Amino acid sequence: MKVLVTGAAGFIGSNLVHFLHRERPSWKITALDLLTYAGNLKNISTLLDEGRVSFEKADITDSESINALFERDKYDIVFHLAAESHVDRSIMSAREFVSTNVMGTQVLIDAAYKYKVAKFVHISTDEVYGSLGPTGFFTESTPLDPTSPYAASKAASDLMVLSFCKTHNFNASVTRCTNNYGFYHFPEKLIPLFITNAMEGKKLPLYGDGMNVRSWLFVEDHCDGLLRVAEKGRAGEVYNIGGTPDCELPNRDVTFMIREMLGKSKDLIQPVGDRPAHDRRYAVDTTKIKNELGWEAKTPFKQGLEKTVAWYNANRSWWEEIKSGQYRSYYEKNYSNRG
Ligand code: NAD
Ligand code: TYD
Repeated sequence: MKVLVTGAAGFIGSNLVHFLHRERPSWKITALDLLTYAGNLKNISTLLDEGRVSFEKADITDSESINALFERDKYDIVFHLAAESHVDRSIMSAREFVSTNVMGTQVLIDAAYKYKVAKFVHISTDEVYGSLGPTGFFTESTPLDPTSPYAASKAASDLMVLSFCKTHNFNASVTRCTNNYGFYHFPEKLIPLFITNAMEGKKLPLYGDGMNVRSWLFVEDHCDGLLRVAEKGRAGEVYNIGGTPDCELPNRDVTFMIREMLGKSKDLIQPVGDRPAHDRRYAVDTTKIKNELGWEAKTPFKQGLEKTVAWYNANRSWWEEIKSGQYRSYYEKNYSNRG
């Protein structure tokens, strides 16, 4: 089986490459990534050094390179994760989000269709559904109502993929997961940022009243769900993927748990100005993937968070290097005028 993973040097993509290599050792995996600020070859370096996975540096918006790759390798399965993924960056500048997430996805599905890829898995987000009130869950038929430019670009890409299923009988499934956490997570998102800031004795900038709610999915559970969708998911279908029943928490509680696990004082918490149009709550109904594909998240939140904290403790050089580079100017820009 020849498999392409796009965005393979990013957080979820690199975890997926490790997971697929472990679970399907006979598969020939190509890891594709442009290595933007969020891509880091160190995330998959052990597999690359041992020649177990091959790497292609490519831009998914470059149709010539993408077509040449598909013509050469004739992939059976494509897992598409390459994207601009951070809401705060999309608020600063939306252009790259439209280019990579919408145009890049169109280039990939054109190539996958032309070169007869048997299964295309498009990895999307629950953020396409918008914001929930205090009760209820997003189902796969909840109307799309994205808030941020990031979520809008993902919604557009989902619709483009689904249009190919309807128009061309393209065999793709779309997955919409909740917030992931785990190893190799770039320290601009809440959990890795707060873990590493706390380890450095720096402030934890909690947006608004800290009561926005997210549902947390351990990344390895997500990878397991993606493999199920690749092997058994139906064409043209959307599958929500979410965490264990204890995974839904306000940011304030997640911050408390991280602080407690690291033995830090509550003085580290710094309430800061809110994100514009900050979605209040995300939570997904995962009945469909459970009933159809037999998938359920396995990792309770506290257990996954403890593992994650331990990983960041054991891999300080990985994140210290990231935080010392161009990351600093982003951090300054995002946090300096929040008050
Ligand atoms: P990430 O930002 O860590 O990784 C994205 C990767 O894509 C990076 O390695 C980057 O270099 C690469 N990339 C960006 N532009 C590219 C281009 N033009 N060509 C090729 N590669 C390019 O993101 P992530 O958190 O791993 O997310 C992966 C996917 O999962 C995304 O599609 C995201 O929308 C989706 N998702 C993520 C989460 C989450 O909690 N992290 C939740 C829901 C959905
Ligand atoms: P984030 O990890 O950026 O994911 P998303 O916005 O895609 O859900 O943020 C998770 C939650 O944490 C979200 O409600 C915003 C909040 N947040 C903070 O309070 N402070 C921060 O510094 C960051 C990055 C996020």
